[in-house]
Amino acid sequence: MRTDLCEKFGIDHPIFGFTPSEHVAAAISRAGGLGVLGCVRFNDPDELDAVLDWMDANTDGKPYGVDIVMPAKIPTEGASTDLNELIPAEHRAFIDRTLDQLGVPPLAEDSARNEGVLGWLHSVARSHVDVALRHPIKLIANALGSPPNDVIAQAHEHGVPVAALAGKAEHARRHVENGVDIVIAQGYEAGGHTGEIASMVLLPEIVDAVDGSAAVLAAGGIGSGRQVAAALALGAQGVWMGSTWLTTAEYRLGAREEGKPSAMQEALLAATSSDTVRTRIYSGKPARLLKTKWTDAWNKPDAPDPLPMPLQNILVSEAHQRINTAGDPEVVAMPVGQIVGRMNAITPVAEVIAELVGGFDAAVDRLDEIR
Ligand SMILES: Cc1cc2nc3c(=O)[nH]c(=O)nc-3n(C[C@H](O)[C@H](O)[C@H](O)COP(=O)(O)O)c2cc1C
Repeated sequence: MRTDLCEKFGIDHPIFGFTPSEHVAAAISRAGGLGVLGCVRFNDPDELDAVLDWMDANTDGKPYGVDIVMPAKIPTEGASTDLNELIPAEHRAFIDRTLDQLGVPPLAEDSARNEGVLGWLHSVARSHVDVALRHPIKLIANALGSPPNDVIAQAHEHGVPVAALAGKAEHARRHVENGVDIVIAQGYEAGGHTGEIASMVLLPEIVDAVDGSAAVLAAGGIGSGRQVAAALALGAQGVWMGSTWLTTAEYRLGAREEGKPSAMQEALLAATSSDTVRTRIYSGKPARLLKTKWTDAWNKPDAPDPLPMPLQNILVSEAHQRINTAGDPEVVAMPVGQIVGRMNAITPVAEVIAELVGGFDAAVDRLDEIR
């Protein structure tokens, strides 16, 4: 399973793994794929710098990348208004009432409150780029469209290619016009922010739309070697996976006890492919999440409409912290795709990659037999 991207990035397998965990990202790179660290959770650029120092020391010299979240436009940024003042009291009352009903206790008096995820403000995402370019990164990916032209130029000056996610062929065309090098065709079934077109339809549309002027990675619903083979058959030069890494042994974010799955992981292990929902409650933009009592509550008649980005995230930030602290698998706020139905065991990253490679070979052999 080798494509041009293997030469371009110096990787053994064209498997790109998005993850918010540096431990998982480093393990993906060590196993021959390209680990891509999600930066959105770093409100403090110095913390990101320290984590990238750790990556530099733990990737055995193997290439890795970073992912930033730079929406095309954040109208509220720069206004003198405190964003908290734009959140209606009705929304805050709904959150308090709902967490109470779900048995999620308040945070301890002395525990530090998150200020919310600020990584999707342009100013913060730009600081992520500045910090990341001081490290030997091999890719910058952007979650919500093409990064601004000057950011693409800045990456290219450092010899770093830029990737951008696309949920429609017209997004992909625009990315290429903007100078993006790699288009990540991300289908409806994916975890996190996602569009409305399924991977099976989207991927060949995007491959045809970019017509060789950018490499295309397939994302959304990939969790086995058979699915990698299908993606490459549809014209992708590699795969980009997000959900699968959440149940790897190296993923310890939110864990409370060493060696035991976190409440979030327990919930994912038990979920089927029907147990996700696409909703605006996580960030204000449609994102696929695990369906739990928390997502159900937002469908009840007394629930308000989610707010636009970035207000919704600020609104739910403390709720997410409370939910994570409570550790109840029935009340989880977590992006995950429909592939969650295959995520049935905690597995080391190297084993996941070995299955992707072995499963790909077996699928290609099977096709050869019926040709
Ligand atoms: C927990 C989680 C968080 C995500 N956060 C981001 C993000 O910050 N930036 C981004 O570009 N994509 C993000 N995504 C989407 C992934 O990059 C990827 O496109 C998607 O997971 C692929 O589909 P899959 O979930 O079926 O593997 C996230 C996905 C998950 C599951």
